[in-house]
Amino acid sequence: MMKNRNALILGATGGIGEAICNELRLEKFDCYLIGRSAEKLTRLRKKYLLSSDQTFCTNSITSAEGFQKTQSWLGNLKQKFSIAIHCAGLGVMKRASEISLEDWQALMDINLNSAFAFYKLAWGIRSTDRLELVYFGSASVDQAWPKNSLYGASKAGLEMFAKSLQKEIRPDGGRVWLYKPGSVRTGFFDQLPNHMPRMKMLDPETIAKIVVENLQKKQTFFLPEIPILSE
Ligand SMILES: NC(=O)c1ccc[n+]([C@@H]2O[C@H](COP(=O)([O-])OP(=O)(O)OC[C@H]3O[C@@H](n4cnc5c(N)ncnc54)[C@H](OP(=O)(O)O)[C@@H]3O)[C@@H](O)[C@H]2O)c1
Repeated sequence: MMKNRNALILGATGGIGEAICNELRLEKFDCYLIGRSAEKLTRLRKKYLLSSDQTFCTNSITSAEGFQKTQSWLGNLKQKFSIAIHCAGLGVMKRASEISLEDWQALMDINLNSAFAFYKLAWGIRSTDRLELVYFGSASVDQAWPKNSLYGASKAGLEMFAKSLQKEIRPDGGRVWLYKPGSVRTGFFDQLPNHMPRMKMLDPETIAKIVVENLQKKQTFFLPEIPILSE
């Protein structure tokens, strides 16, 4: 049984994030949520009966100001955390010739740069014995596809970051989990036409159960890369 029951989540307003939040609550974890939409965070606060200081709204954790404000919120909580889950991200499926510089930078910022910023924030408030850090890569990077240069590059970069980080933080009680799901039935596909039929996609609840069950396994259990594919 994990002694510290505090979990920090970036992206709880999304399909996978909310399913993970549900599962963590069932397992009696206290969830602290960072998001960019005050309205969505308020809905989750009501749903989970969270206190007002358990959610923090910021447009960015990668700008100097956004990072520092998030760090101050965490510092003021005076809590330590054993779990930090990064499940924010954006999908863009376009040919490179159709992608603007702004689109490229915006996607890299949330899919890759924020993964680094999130680690920095979480590491500073980790519980004394451990920190479980969860990231979501993508099964789509195991092969090259047209229209996947941007999303694929962000997730391939995330993958290398997560694997290197695992080697760095393991001696200090850190453990990184890199999930690589196939298609999951969430709002992620609202902007992505012509994908596989929704009924063939994985349920976010299935992913959440696997993630939360794994988190509670003993510290010696070490598996940095976990593909979860549908049939
Ligand atoms: N769904 C899939 O098939 C699939 C497969 C493999 C990997 N993944 C990865 O799993 C993670 C979660 O995906 P999901 O399916 O849960 O997607 P989702 O339902 O679309 O949720 C995305 C989450 O990311 C947040 N987000 C997006 N852009 C943001 C930005 N610029 N700044 C701050 N927050 C931002 C959203 O916040 P708002 O609610 O405020 O929009 C939301 O909380 C992502 O990293 C995704 O790449 C998903």
